[in-house]
Formats: sequence, structure tokens, C-alpha cells
Amino acid sequence: MSNNEVIEKFFYPSSVAVVGASREPSKVGYQLLHNLIAKYRGKVYPINPKVDEILGIKAYPNVNSVPGTIDLAVISVPAPAVPTVVEECGLKGVKSVIIISAGFKELGTSEGIEFEKRIVSTAKRFGIRVIGPNCMGVYVPKVGLNTTFLNPERMDFPNHGNIAFISQSGAFGIAVLDWAAMRGIGISKFVSLGNKCDVDESDLLNYLVSDDDTQVITMYVEGVEKGREFAKSLRSVTTVKPVVILKAGRSEEGVRAIASHTGSLAGADVVYDVVFRQFGAIRAMGMDELFDIALSLSLQPPAKGMNVGILTVGGGSGVMATDAAVSLGLKVPKLSDTTVSKLRKVLLPIASPYNPVDVTGSARDEHLLQAVEILTRSGEVDIIIWIPYFMAPGISKELAKNFITLIKSINNELDTPIPIVGAATGGRHTAKLSTIIENEGIPMYPSVERAAKAAWALCKYGQWLRDNGTFEEYISKHMRSKATN
Ligand code: COA
Repeated sequence: MSNNEVIEKFFYPSSVAVVGASREPSKVGYQLLHNLIAKYRGKVYPINPKVDEILGIKAYPNVNSVPGTIDLAVISVPAPAVPTVVEECGLKGVKSVIIISAGFKELGTSEGIEFEKRIVSTAKRFGIRVIGPNCMGVYVPKVGLNTTFLNPERMDFPNHGNIAFISQSGAFGIAVLDWAAMRGIGISKFVSLGNKCDVDESDLLNYLVSDDDTQVITMYVEGVEKGREFAKSLRSVTTVKPVVILKAGRSEEGVRAIASHTGSLAGADVVYDVVFRQFGAIRAMGMDELFDIALSLSLQPPAKGMNVGILTVGGGSGVMATDAAVSLGLKVPKLSDTTVSKLRKVLLPIASPYNPVDVTGSARDEHLLQAVEILTRSGEVDIIIWIPYFMAPGISKELAKNFITLIKSINNELDTPIPIVGAATGGRHTAKLSTIIENEGIPMYPSVERAAKAAWALCKYGQWLRDNGTFEEYISKHMRSKATN
């Protein structure tokens, strides 16, 4: 089996054994089995030598006594027992193993390190690939595969979507899944890597680059051990699809904390910065930013240049958006006389037809619609930040729908589509309308600064693709996939 074929078994196994499935509802091995059988429709084999049945499913004393083949084994027994279980998996012919158990390298004890070494050498001997130990495993909503052990009464799991999320931290990863479900962000594949004794970011990047379900790859990274391989994988993936990375351990103190979390060698932050820049990964500075950027890249095409058009109902927000965009290195160009006069013709006399284009609080739907059409067709801006105020009296509930329809039809006509991101600051009514717009494909952010950062990412990624000669190819693929969605 090729590397990718083995990795594929982590996401699409036909059968899963849960080694350490427990009878006790308060234990990890019980909840894991419970979560797995909730939606997964493949064969499930609980492994526990003390019982015949768990949660109504026949249990087996060990993997060897399972009658059929096992595509994936998820191990949740105490650390000292794990090396033997991995050996048993090898003898059974299991090629993909997830180790949930903690108590290995991350402890820093000679015993923990030794257990992990034994796992690695056994896995090598049998050609097994291992995710973990000390991890949450995987979540693939498309096929209902969930190897996490958190209580679903106290968290939600997101639906299928086109963003993959790889996390070195299990707990943070899970919290993000819960948050993503609330925010309406869909996930193609979630992987918690834990100690990365075998499968690491590079393996997953190499797989995800050709995964049709994944349009954007996001990562939470503490430290990368095999730097050269990682850089090589990044290089080959980022020209095909965007990779957004939240790298923790920016301070010396943070680096120290990492050592006791997953036992990773974090290394100098500045080196990561250089590698990310050199190989086209986009760095996010926090969780909000990670998904703000991922969302814009998953919904909108990248921009063909750095010129931002700002279309606003409120003057102050236009100014703040301009500041935010410029401080990120984007340009907010003056519009040509021709474009200004076109805008003047359709806007109210009190409107400002420059950039930002301020339609004012007296604007009606048609002013925003006509202005966005003039801007997108002007050839003078590469991306638009629009700032609607849904509470303005002339703005109707229909604006969102009409705005989206118009943008889509214009972009279908243009050689290079103009991406658009929105900023809508406000309360519950604004949030509700923003969600409707976002569901139709325009990412909406609660502040102009966040919208500007998302716009920056679309510009930055567009530049990377242009520099590498894959911009056109990416755009046509992106537009095709949007057309079929
Ligand atoms: N094969 C099959 N089943 C076995 C076994 C083996 N070799 N050894 C033990 N079991 C069974 C036990 O009988 C038990 O079932 P029971 O409760 O029905 O008796 C079950 O497996 C669990 O074993 P137990 O010894 O009770 O362990 P535990 O549930 O207290 O803890 C872990 C096991 C793996 C959950 C725990 O050691 C651990 O690592 N917890 C932390 C997990 C974590 O945080 N991971 C990282 C997330 S980011």
C-alpha cells in the first residue's frame, strides 16, 4: 500500500477496533465507543478481555480474535499495555493505528520515552502507521467517523465542510470543533496529532493536497521535528491549496510550555516565520484569525492584486477599514475620474464616491448594488470589503439576497473574479443577516479589522499563486467548485 493509501484508512476505514473499550460510562474507552457508533456505519469491534458485549455490540478479548480484517485500531488502554497491543495489531495485519492513551514522551520520564520508542520500532517492523500517542484521533463528518472521547451532551461536532483542521493539541482541537459547529463552519477532516511518534503534519499535507473534500488546510502547530520534509510538503501543497497555520510558542516561556505539553522541540519562532513565508503558508496569530482566514479562502477566490475597494454605509467604518487594510500592506487606491463620475451618477448627492465609497445612512439597496457593480467592473480594485449597516432605514431585508446574486453573476462574467468580504458590526439582527449572507458564500466578520485581515489573506495567497504560476489554474478550479456547490 502506498503512504496515501494507508493514511486514507485513518479517514475511510471499513472496520474499526476500539482496544480498551470500557463498560464504565465515566471512562474514556466507553465514551469513545459511544461517539464512534453514533454515526459511523462501518464495522466496529470493541476489544476488552473482561466482557462479551459493550453498548450492545459483541466484544472480543483481543484484536487477533476478531473474525474479519481491521482497517483501523483505536487504542485506549493504559500506556504500559500499549506496546503489546501495537504488536498484536501488527500480527493481525492492521496498518493504521490511533493511540489515544497518554503517558509517553510528553511525560519526559525514561519509562514514557521507552514505551514510545517500542511503539515506533514495532510499527516500523509491521509497516503500521500511527497517529498519536496522546491524541484525540480523527473526526470525519462525511462518514460519521469520530474517535474522540468527549461528551457530546456538552459539545457539538461540526458538519461536513471544506476546511481540514490538523491540531497538535487535542483539547484545543476539540474546543475548536465545538466552536466551529456553533459558528457554522464545516470540517472535511480533523486530526489530533498528539506526540506525533509517526504520522506528522507532512504526511497529512501530502495526503490532503489531493483530497477533493478539502479546499483549505488549517493547522495548530507547536513544533515540527522534521523541518526539511515539512518545508518540502508545504512547498508542494501551497501552490495547489492554501495552508493556514497557527504556530504557538512565540515567546521563550511559550516554548518551555510546549516541551511539557507534547514533548516537541519548538525551536526559534523566527525560523518558522521565515519557513512559512518562503513556502507560502499563511500565519495566523490566534484562533479567531485562523478561522477568519480559512473561511475567506474557503468561500472566495484569491485576489489578483493588492488594491482594495471599500464600500460602506457608515463613514467611520470606512475610515477604520482603510486604516486596517493599509496597516496590513494593502492599497486603498484613489478611483479614476471615470469611476468617480459613474458612482456620482447613481449615488445620492451626499454620498462620497471616492475610496472608501460611502453611500451614507440614507442609502437604499440600489445604491449599494449599483456601487458594487461599478467597483467590480472598474478594473481598479482587486478585492472589495463591503460594510453594510442592516439597520439603516433604506436597507431592506432583500439586500443580502440581491447583493449575492449580483456579485455571483458579475464574477461569472469577469476573467478574474473579484473576491468580496464583509464586515457587519452590530447585535443579534446583524448577526442573523450575516449568517444568511455567509451561507450564500460571502464571509462576514464582526469588525472591519477582522474583515481586513481576511481580505489580506486573499491578496497574499493570490500573490503567492501568481508568483508560482498557478493563479489561473486555482481560480478556474475554485470557480468550478463554487458553481457545483
Ligand atoms: N486490551 C483490551 N482491553 C483492555 C486492555 C487490553 N490490553 N487492558 C485494559 N483493557 C480494558 C480494561 O478492562 C478497561 O475496561 P473496563 O473499564 O470495562 O474494565 C478498559 O480497557 C480501560 O482500561 P483501564 O485500565 O480502566 O484504563 P482507564 O480507562 O482508566 O485509562 C486511558 C486508560 C488510556 C484512558 C488512560 O490511561 C489515559 O491515557 N488517559 C488520558 C487520555 C488522554 O487525555 N489522551 C490525550 C488526549 S489529547
